[in-house]
Amino acid sequence: MSDFLTPLGTNIDLAADLLRNGKLVAIPTETVYGLAGNALDTAAVASIFAAKARPAFDPLIVHISNIAQLPMYVQDAPEKALRLAALFWPGPLTLLFKKKAIIPDLVTSGHETVAVRIPNHPLTLALLNLIDFPLSAPSANPFGYVSPTTAQHVRNQLDGKLDYILDGGPCSVGLESTIVSFEHATPKVLRLGGLSLEAIEDALGEKVTHQLSSSSPQAPGMLVSHYNPRKKVVLDAAPETDSTHIGYIRFAAPLAHVPADRQVVLSPSGNLFEAAQNLFAALRFFDSNRFEKVIAQRVPNEGLGRAINDRLARAAG
Ligand code: TXA
Ligand code: MG
Repeated sequence: MSDFLTPLGTNIDLAADLLRNGKLVAIPTETVYGLAGNALDTAAVASIFAAKARPAFDPLIVHISNIAQLPMYVQDAPEKALRLAALFWPGPLTLLFKKKAIIPDLVTSGHETVAVRIPNHPLTLALLNLIDFPLSAPSANPFGYVSPTTAQHVRNQLDGKLDYILDGGPCSVGLESTIVSFEHATPKVLRLGGLSLEAIEDALGEKVTHQLSSSSPQAPGMLVSHYNPRKKVVLDAAPETDSTHIGYIRFAAPLAHVPADRQVVLSPSGNLFEAAQNLFAALRFFDSNRFEKVIAQRVPNEGLGRAINDRLARAAG
């Protein structure tokens, strides 16, 4: 017997039926779990904002399963965007396009642009192929909290606020998608994420601009304190050996004099992909009560390391 209100499982037929009826379903993706509803159904979209306590000014990403669906929802797709889509979809990349009228204004918070991606997870792709509408899905966490990378993370925080959790196991990337805008001649990364800046620049054969987190961001997802865990996080501070209420997030090497139950090593082999996979679970771990503070070590600032450092900086607020 479970005390939970929201069932969890792998039944995509049930998930599809619920979504057709305007209900909310958590979906696994390679980046993080999403809180999905029918993107073309304004009432379903409104209930996503309500379930997350998300302010209406923060727009949602629209998830599709096939690049051929793109023209139904967007217009004037730039050639560079299509090139990235062809190379990296399905994958941890979200592209901004001029929206068509079929996309409700609520999805885009009144903006003329809509964010679109094809997620790379077999269950969610199969689900998208069962339904004839796209899914708008923000990360499945209360607004402002760390994104979920397992089905249980979703249940722990949103139980009772959605109708089903599709359990696709732990997320393979572990960081939200990289968001790219083509509003200006030079493409701009609005949110660093699971696809590296280097991969995008190599594909386009040019440098792109990118913005870091700030307190007055262009994309609400760039808010500096957006990934706040409940505990105080400080970066690269000296270890405080004598206190048991301090946790440590380390990149590769554990601290010799700190017990193993007070530190999480993101990747013992120093691999940034593995570190990304483990980052959000590490922040959640230290939210458990006995810790008052987390001292996190920044990782090398290259590849996925940029996005990891961005999330650490946001957690430190
Ligand atoms: O990996 C991901 O992107 C996950 C999975 C579920 O797909 N989704 C996700 O959604 O992280 P969310 O809502 O937590 O973050 C999406 C961010 C928002 O913070 C918003 O600022 C930005 O995307 N965004 C969405 N539409 C936008 C638009 N039209 N213009 C600028 N930014 C936009
Ligand atoms: Mg989010």
